[in-house]
Amino acid sequence: MDGTIYLSDYTPYPFDLDQVHLTFRLAPSATRVLARLHLTPKGEGASLHLDGEDLKLISLGIDGTALQPADYLMTETGLTVHAAALPEGAFTLETEVEIAPNANTALEGLYMSNGMYCTQCEAEGFRKITFYPDRPDVMARFHVRIEGDLPVLLSNGNAGASGQGWAEWDDPWPKPAYLFALVAGDLVATSGKFTTKSGLEVDLNIWVRPGDEDRCDFALESLVRSMVWDEEAYGREYDLSVFNLVAVDDFNMGAMENKGLNIFNSKLVLASPETATDTDYMRIEAVIGHEYFHNWTGDRITCRDWFQLCLKEGLTVFRDQSFTRDVRLGPVKRIEDAATLRTRQFREDQGPLAHPPRPNHYREINNFYTVTVYEKGAEIVGMLKRLAGDEGYRRALDLYFDRHDGQACTIEDWLKVFEDVTGRDLSQFALWYTSAGTPHLKVTDTYADGRYTLTFRQSTPPTPGEAEKAPRHIPIALGLLDLQGREVLSTQLLEMTEEEQSFSFDVAEKPVPSILRDFSAPVVLQREQSPEEQAFLLAHDTDGFNRWEAGRSLAQRTLIDMTTGAEPAPAYLEAIGNLLADDTLEPAFIAHCLALPGEDELAQAIFAAGGTPDPDAIHAARNALSKAIATTHETRLAALYDALEVKGPYSPDAEPAGKRGLRLACLSLLTKLDGGTRAKALFDQANNMTESFGALSILIRAGLGQEASQAFRNRWQDNRLVMDKWFMVEVAACPPESAVSRARELAQDSAFDWKNPNRFRALVGGLTANHAGFHAKDGSGYAFLADWLIKLDPMNPQTAARMSTSFETWRRYDATRQQMIREELTRITETRGLSRDLSEMSQRLLG
Ligand code: PHE
Ligand code: ZN
Repeated sequence: MDGTIYLSDYTPYPFDLDQVHLTFRLAPSATRVLARLHLTPKGEGASLHLDGEDLKLISLGIDGTALQPADYLMTETGLTVHAAALPEGAFTLETEVEIAPNANTALEGLYMSNGMYCTQCEAEGFRKITFYPDRPDVMARFHVRIEGDLPVLLSNGNAGASGQGWAEWDDPWPKPAYLFALVAGDLVATSGKFTTKSGLEVDLNIWVRPGDEDRCDFALESLVRSMVWDEEAYGREYDLSVFNLVAVDDFNMGAMENKGLNIFNSKLVLASPETATDTDYMRIEAVIGHEYFHNWTGDRITCRDWFQLCLKEGLTVFRDQSFTRDVRLGPVKRIEDAATLRTRQFREDQGPLAHPPRPNHYREINNFYTVTVYEKGAEIVGMLKRLAGDEGYRRALDLYFDRHDGQACTIEDWLKVFEDVTGRDLSQFALWYTSAGTPHLKVTDTYADGRYTLTFRQSTPPTPGEAEKAPRHIPIALGLLDLQGREVLSTQLLEMTEEEQSFSFDVAEKPVPSILRDFSAPVVLQREQSPEEQAFLLAHDTDGFNRWEAGRSLAQRTLIDMTTGAEPAPAYLEAIGNLLADDTLEPAFIAHCLALPGEDELAQAIFAAGGTPDPDAIHAARNALSKAIATTHETRLAALYDALEVKGPYSPDAEPAGKRGLRLACLSLLTKLDGGTRAKALFDQANNMTESFGALSILIRAGLGQEASQAFRNRWQDNRLVMDKWFMVEVAACPPESAVSRARELAQDSAFDWKNPNRFRALVGGLTANHAGFHAKDGSGYAFLADWLIKLDPMNPQTAARMSTSFETWRRYDATRQQMIREELTRITETRGLSRDLSEMSQRLLG
């Protein structure tokens, strides 16, 4: 493919860049950027290549002398100074360019959001700011001067001198350009202080637009909790005298870990009980943690090249997941993370976009910020931790920080610290990084003469470009239970390395195995199991994840049978009754058990089992099972609903949030029977967004939401973030037969500001989240998505490309739907002037 970049082509940059001086003269349509780069050639005879896009070159010189046109070559992607024009030894290159932040709608580089200047440089946005070796293995110290008439002028590092209309910043830590940031605006801070274990005093500031400062307390508290946790759990301390965090309304992603100056999508900062749900609070804390943890895993130790992205992302996601488990959710966190991985990452592996956590080629790196790189990357770190043990893991991480601080590293460097600490050979394990696809693990068992034997057989379905798959090194956590539900074998780690392998245990009677405890490896477990055995594990398994998992597979099996006309399985309904009656269980755990597998997940399961999913039948089956649960257990659900009411002022803590979660799950079921009485009452009385929005979603889903929806909109029309929720739920929860028409209607709404990524994702993503609505038989959902991708692409290619992944499941469906999706994808690929982002995606999607 043209323009494809290969890992195997990596070569080091031929110059060292130790110091960078940048001056910004801010103006919306004509910002000047002056850069002085202090460069030293590593060898002889190399020409100097700098990346640069959409830059107007004003001047270019070396050591105070202007370059002549014959000295360099400028193209659309950069500038090359010929070797002959370079002095011997070290020199300073000086450039001045002009850029137009107010015309930057792609939100990459320097752009404007609501009157404020901000930057987004990962992955390759810095080249839209100035000519520079824009690659992560070039690390330099930055000194920045900002001139502009806005009151707050921020960049990375520690504050330097400042005066009316200007400010200087010094970052003592060498960093790649993708971690550069600048913010200028009329902003107010919510501030705090933190003293590190070694006694460094740090000022903490959460910067927002005036009017938003009353919704920053939780973000600040989360930041402090993150700093404490990283000192405790990883021995990592903060390393600057200030940590600034800024909320912006227009942002393509969640947040960004720029050194000492994190920039966040405002939805991941701003929270008050009236405007944010329990889930929002949880995500804010997790993402604040994530970006903060990047300071060590990302900033201090960065990636050699973008193929190594999961070196920082997989590890940092693993760290944020551990943080949330430790400070908030406890064991149910693992259920949530494993469930997300299976619905989203397994789905990616099953389709045309499947790729290894460390890919070996790409056209547009922005297209590789994926669930595979992030979430599967985190699972791999989790497996390493299981193999090394808690203590071995800590030693490996200590060695990683010791050995590689200040470096740009590879996955090989990372694996090597585990090899050195544990003495293991991880060459087979490395396949988890370099090979794509989800291994399937077939399990059979036998019992004879007091010996119980489990036999595992692994195979990985082919993925694009990878037909043959070698066996992986799979850690399988196993426990055995007797028929009274007692553990006869507590959790053991089996290590599978062959294609087929057996493990035997001496036990007095045939046990019930609990396999892949805590979801010890990201694989699909295939095992013939009776509904009775699943119900037994749901009642007795001593491993929380597998207990939930047993109920999950029971629900899945029942639902799949129901899509072809079966009645709800009595074993399942009975098991749910037992759960509801068990007051030793945590509400959050019961809520997770009550939640039925989503429609997309069911479609994935049907396809994986060789069938063709019918979206309408899936939707109907899910409704019917909910109704059956409600009818069978009405009394218990109603009693629970009353008992779970959380009184007093709102707190986002895990315990009340767990109660609210279970209470809303009960409400959703009860609404199948009570005509919406309870949901309407809750909507009217709610004093927090969790219950207000929860009740609204339930009403809309039941087709009873008109009045509540209107009231909600009237109340919140001036709050952007809440209005995003409204757009989303209006379409996502809408009965499928009217989802596309509702989406079309809302796309005409004056409040639909499609250039704002959050609003775009709310509406268009709302439709794709409505499985049966998006897959409407007439193809209208597909056409709607394609129209909007084509419209958004010239403005914001990153967000357009990201949203195109909704098409990745097309091979699952019947021939007519497949044909319709292929036509839409073809229409996209044939659009003139398509971005590299969307063009790569649509071509890969077509396969
Ligand atoms: N590096 C960011 C994170 O994971 C994500 C990001 C990527 C943000 C690219 C913006 C652009 O924390
Ligand atoms: Zn990250």
